[in-house]
Amino acid sequence: MAILKVARMGHPVLREKCQPIDPAQITSPAVQGLIRDMFATMAEYAGVGLAAPQVHQAVRLVIAGGETDEEGRQQYRVLINPKVTVLDEDDRLGMYEGCLSLPGLRGWVERPAAVKVDAFDEQGARVEFTLEGFPAVVIQHECDHLDGVLYVDRITDMKKFAFELEADRYFAEDPAGDAEGDEEAYEDD
Ligand code: NI
Repeated sequence: MAILKVARMGHPVLREKCQPIDPAQITSPAVQGLIRDMFATMAEYAGVGLAAPQVHQAVRLVIAGGETDEEGRQQYRVLINPKVTVLDEDDRLGMYEGCLSLPGLRGWVERPAAVKVDAFDEQGARVEFTLEGFPAVVIQHECDHLDGVLYVDRITDMKKFAFELEADRYFAEDPAGDAEGDEEAYEDD
C-alpha cells in the first residue's frame, strides 16, 4: 500500500476526460492496488473522497464518503464508471466545497440535492442507488473529476471563494451570504 502524490490544480491530468475501466479488469491486481492506494492517500490527507485523476490515473474510478452507518462511522463507496442522474434540477443544495487538489481553499457551490448513481463496485458488481444531501454533493464533486471538472468551475460568485481559514472565520454564520439558512457543510476531498 502506498500514499500517492496528489495532483494539484494546474496539472493537466485534472482536466482530462477519464477513460472507463473494463469491468472484467476491476478484480485485477492493478485496479485493486489502485483502490488500496487511493484509500491510503485519502486517509493520509483526511479527504472525504478521492478521484483517480487526482492521483494521476485518468480512469473512471472514485471513492466517495459522506455517509455514516448506525454507529456514526464513515462509510465509503468505491464507484467505477459511475453515471450520475440528477433527480430534480430545481432542488439544490449549496455548501463550501474543498478539494485535495486545491489545498487550503473553499468555494461556495450549489448542486442538485439528490441524484441516482449507476456504477460498478470494487468487486465488479453493478450497483444502483439514490443519495441526497451531503453524500450526493460528494458523489457529484468526485464524478466531476472524471470529466476534468473542478469545483471552482461551478462557483458562480467569486466573492465566496476563499482560503479555508478565512472562510471558517468570516463565512461560518452565514455561509450562503444571503441568510436563507442553507445547509452549511464542508467537503474535504
Ligand atoms: Ni476534488
